[in-house]
Amino acid sequence: MQLLSKPDYLEALAASRDARIGWWREARFGMFIHFGLHTLIARNEWAMAIEDFTVGEYEKLADSFCPKPGAPRQWAKLAKEAGMKYMVLTTRHHEGFSLWDSAANPYNSVNYGCHRDIVREFVDACREFDLKIGFYSSLMDWHHPDGGRCAYDGEARKRFTDYIYAINRELLTQYGKIDILWYDVAWPLDSDEGWNTLEINQRLRALQPDIIINNRSRLPEDFGTPEEHLTATEGDWEACMTFNGISWGYLDSAQAQPYSYNAQQILRMLCRVSGSGGNLLLNIGPDREGNVPAEAVAPLQTIGKWLAVNGEAAYGKRERGSYTINGLCSTTVMNNAIYGWFWLWPGKEVTLGGVVSKLKRASFLTTGDAIEFTQDGHRVRLKNMPEKGPDAIANIAVIKLEFDEPVRIIRGSYRPALHKGKEYQPAE
Ligand code: GLC
Repeated sequence: MQLLSKPDYLEALAASRDARIGWWREARFGMFIHFGLHTLIARNEWAMAIEDFTVGEYEKLADSFCPKPGAPRQWAKLAKEAGMKYMVLTTRHHEGFSLWDSAANPYNSVNYGCHRDIVREFVDACREFDLKIGFYSSLMDWHHPDGGRCAYDGEARKRFTDYIYAINRELLTQYGKIDILWYDVAWPLDSDEGWNTLEINQRLRALQPDIIINNRSRLPEDFGTPEEHLTATEGDWEACMTFNGISWGYLDSAQAQPYSYNAQQILRMLCRVSGSGGNLLLNIGPDREGNVPAEAVAPLQTIGKWLAVNGEAAYGKRERGSYTINGLCSTTVMNNAIYGWFWLWPGKEVTLGGVVSKLKRASFLTTGDAIEFTQDGHRVRLKNMPEKGPDAIANIAVIKLEFDEPVRIIRGSYRPALHKGKEYQPAE
């Protein structure tokens, strides 16, 4: 295979990106699954390292790894119900245990415990529910003898990067079309040369030409991955979030419950990322049986019901940038329309400020009903609305404002130049 230089590779990626990543820009919302031997410990997926397990001690867990049949199907079913469009599974977390039938890594779920290919079950479930398929793949490996040694021993480094290539090659050849390769933790090597990423990723991409790859193998690849925060990065990006701010892996449900997000908090995250042109990859850590943790089920179902009605405000390739038009709502913008997600309901009337473009129509996404309005310069007044917000699912009503031109929002009070004399002059 003819390998490209780094600049040529990055250029080729940029040139093909729109075609490869289009579906993902529309999707906006995905499910992250952290599942592995750490699930049995239930004290964070880093337990092996944090608690100084020896490899021998930790390996013993493998015999007890036995999720109930059909668990991945349960995850995919819930993801679908929640309005998510894709899933990413930890096929092998830092602990080094592979959840598939791997020749390169005999420490896997087919040789131990339940003797099942969980990745296969996951892939089948994603396909059944029409969800795009993502494989998380750790670069760090606490089980592999060269996982640490590769940092200072050239031969170990060669063996280890060959191993990384081999396991990912298996993942990208044994399961048909795969949509996302989600690398994690490029430790202990601190450059793409160290990891041989340029070559490995080109070889892997040749196996799955449409795949998108995240930015954690020390090359920027296709998209950024802010973790546990929602800050937009340059280009395409996806915020990955735990369900409770404490752990990606399973934690005792009853105790994790008070720290877990509710539907409203998750919808606020989704609004924020979608409004800034990003995606939300929301994690669940199933329990040892593979059950979705109880605290995640109801919020996700609520979100799915809400998105079935209000999805227009969240999905789709949209303009980057959300505008403040009223203190009770946040907004997303798409195709000459602005969507105000009302976290609190203002009552019968509300004033929206800074609206430069001429408003054509205002309506509730919930019902499609038009809302009466007047527009006086930059101020829009919505009138005769119901006393209580019209959304019965999550109590978050969305008001859609449609314009004949791309939305323009300007805060007059911050721009003295827009004021002539005493009176505020809305026209520029
Ligand atoms: C981290 C953690 C890890 C988790 C990941 C998800 O870097 O090491 O446990 O899987 O982030 O983004």
